[in-house]
Amino acid sequence: MDIQNLGYALTQVVHNFGASAVVGGAVASLWLAPRQELDRSLAWLVCLGWAAQIASGAAFGAISFYYYGKFPDIGGLAITALAIKVACAVAGISLAALYLLRAASWTATLRRRVWLMLAGLSATALTAAAFLRWFS
Ligand code: HEM
Repeated sequence: MDIQNLGYALTQVVHNFGASAVVGGAVASLWLAPRQELDRSLAWLVCLGWAAQIASGAAFGAISFYYYGKFPDIGGLAITALAIKVACAVAGISLAALYLLRAASWTATLRRRVWLMLAGLSATALTAAAFLRWFS
């Protein structure tokens, strides 16, 4: 078995489940009637999902660097798509962590706004992923 491909495949498994967690967790919170206990579990899911995206995204780059001594040669639209994903991931993990730390004292309106932002960030990153895939 090709170890390099195995590395990419296992990284992709983490990346795919992370993507499901950040999109699904935010949508579930908006969809279901707001209940603070459930929201907290969903916030953990989303926060860990964003962490998984950052770690597995970095792992993609690390595997390429290990085998080729450089990062993949991408340009133009692919770079923009990657930058959007990284920006979404940094904003997403920060917002989710803030939610876990502070949401208990927030109004229902503010909590919903933050979930809307988390859903928007995850949808933006997922859309950017398609452009990164097909323009690199
Ligand atoms: C630090 C943030 C991230 C980095 C560095 C990163 C990096 C990457 C890389 C290098 C690939 C492989 C690209 C290819 O196959 O050509 C990839 C694929 C993918 N990423 Fe990310 N990613 C990040 C965040 C995210 C986020 C937040 C999501 C979704 C919410 C996401 C969803 C996907 C999906 C669905 C694929 C597979 C695309 C396909 O093969 O069709 N990524 N990512």
